Amino acid sequence: MANDNQFRARTAFVATRGVREYRATIPHVLRPEDVVLEVGCEWGTTTALLAGRAGSVLGTDVSRECVARARVMHPEVEFAALDAFDLRAVLDLGRPFTAVYMDLSGLSGYRGLLDLVALLNAYSAVVAPRVVVVKSGALKDFARRCTAWPAEEEATC
Ligand SMILES: C[S@@+](CC[C@H](N)C(=O)[O-])C[C@H]1O[C@@H](n2cnc3c(N)ncnc32)[C@H](O)[C@@H]1O
Repeated sequence: MANDNQFRARTAFVATRGVREYRATIPHVLRPEDVVLEVGCEWGTTTALLAGRAGSVLGTDVSRECVARARVMHPEVEFAALDAFDLRAVLDLGRPFTAVYMDLSGLSGYRGLLDLVALLNAYSAVVAPRVVVVKSGALKDFARRCTAWPAEEEATC
């Protein structure tokens, strides 16, 4: 059962709608020393942009065809085939990821919102990056309607 421990992690989540917003975050979010993982890289267009701003970048996709094409289109960037839900495989990469970019088909809409939140919590707990940037209009809408109550001690319920 879920308990308070899963919410003690310090990872920040940035929700974006559409690929333009997703990519527009790069200069605002990334630091030169960041070790970045992109899950759902497709042909590596965003991965190549990330590579220009971070210390190191690995683009990953569940589709081996996408990874093969990404390697041809961006031979200077590193890519690997990987299922974003396979946290064991992510840990086995053995890299201290400080930022994760997440763009998974099927998880950006409202039907995928619960799965996405579960996956974000898993990355926060297991990979523990400083920040996860997600392409999900549904999460962005949800986040916009959330407000953290300003002072915990004021809450009586
Ligand atoms: C919209 S495309 C990504 C576009 C890319 N991020 C960009 O900015 O150019 C979504 C990608 O998610 C990948 N994908 C879907 N489910 C996945 C999973 N479980 N793990 C990893 N990649 C997945 C798909 O193969 C597809 O290439």
